[in-house]
Amino acid sequence: MAIQWFPGHMHVTKKAILERIKDIDVVIELLDARLPGSSANPMLAAMTGHRLKLKVLNKQDLADPARTEAWLAWYRAQSDTAAIALDASDTAPAQRLVKACRELAPHRGGMAKPLRVLICGIPNVGKSTLLNTLVGKKAAKTGDEAGVTRIEQRINLASDFYLFDTPGMLWPKIIVEKSGYHLAGSGAVGRNAYDEEEVALELIQSLKGPYAPLLVARYKLDTPEAEIPAMHDEALLTEIGRKRGAVMSGGRVNLQKAAEIVINDFRSAAIGRATLETPAEFEAWLQAAQAHEATLQAERAARNKKHKRRHDQEEAALPRPEAGDGDHEDANDSED
Ligand code: G4P
Repeated sequence: MAIQWFPGHMHVTKKAILERIKDIDVVIELLDARLPGSSANPMLAAMTGHRLKLKVLNKQDLADPARTEAWLAWYRAQSDTAAIALDASDTAPAQRLVKACRELAPHRGGMAKPLRVLICGIPNVGKSTLLNTLVGKKAAKTGDEAGVTRIEQRINLASDFYLFDTPGMLWPKIIVEKSGYHLAGSGAVGRNAYDEEEVALELIQSLKGPYAPLLVARYKLDTPEAEIPAMHDEALLTEIGRKRGAVMSGGRVNLQKAAEIVINDFRSAAIGRATLETPAEFEAWLQAAQAHEATLQAERAARNKKHKRRHDQEEAALPRPEAGDGDHEDANDSED
């Protein structure tokens, strides 16, 4: 079953972004470097339109460096877009962010034309951690601005560089099913929105191809590395559970326990540095999902049209009140 959630405060956040976006020069989107495509908010893309964009692949310390390079190159090939990778151990994130934004918008700068930047990202992507570093070491937090919705805060990274923060936001309908599982695996989605076993199986499916050696090493698997990619996901989860002692009385593997182990190990990178998706894979998923979505919408439209036609036919078949009926009733009423 696909993962769905109820993104809290979505409308408030959306309104705040729409209010602010008019005066913004650069939009920074914090992405999870382990799932860049899946952690990009499609609503944000629609709201920010043709603005200059800086994609920040955050938590790069957990991600596969080669895949991070591939994602950076992919973003940099897009128009009006720059991309950098970052993690919490970076001692000078402010300098890197400011430099990247200034290069994107050389026409802005100086007190008369300060560079105005909006920072967005899904929950758990590491935005608070980054902002705390920025505020603590490099910047002055100015708090809410008059006239702007109160959930927004402004940080001055330089006298002519304003960074506007927005709360972490998910979007209401996830069309790429795989993205839902990757987001759940990363910890972006609340625990009650997904089933751990399903998420662990999807994580295994994404990991077993490119990272078979990491899985064999982490769980001391008996299956040879070369056979892991072709292995059934549930068989792999079962072997992991057995190896980690997640066994119930009677010797059956406790798949729920095994799933929790896999999810926790992925989140903490105990498995090793791994990225769940490549740009080409994500593009293919997105295109397939968009085509599927278009089919669903066409089917829905056809169904609605059919219902309407039937309704109209039924209406037309109803006996029509004869002329004068109303007068007759009135006559009866008056008799009463
Ligand atoms: P958010 O505001 O975007 O929701 O995310 P937040 O900064 O709260 O970070 C979410 C979790 O990600 C935190 O872990 C945080 O420590 C961790 N994190 C943030 N940036 C990085 C990074 O660059 N690398 C790694 N490896 N982790 C990062 P937590 O376990 O939820 O909380 P905590 O106990 O570590 O604070």
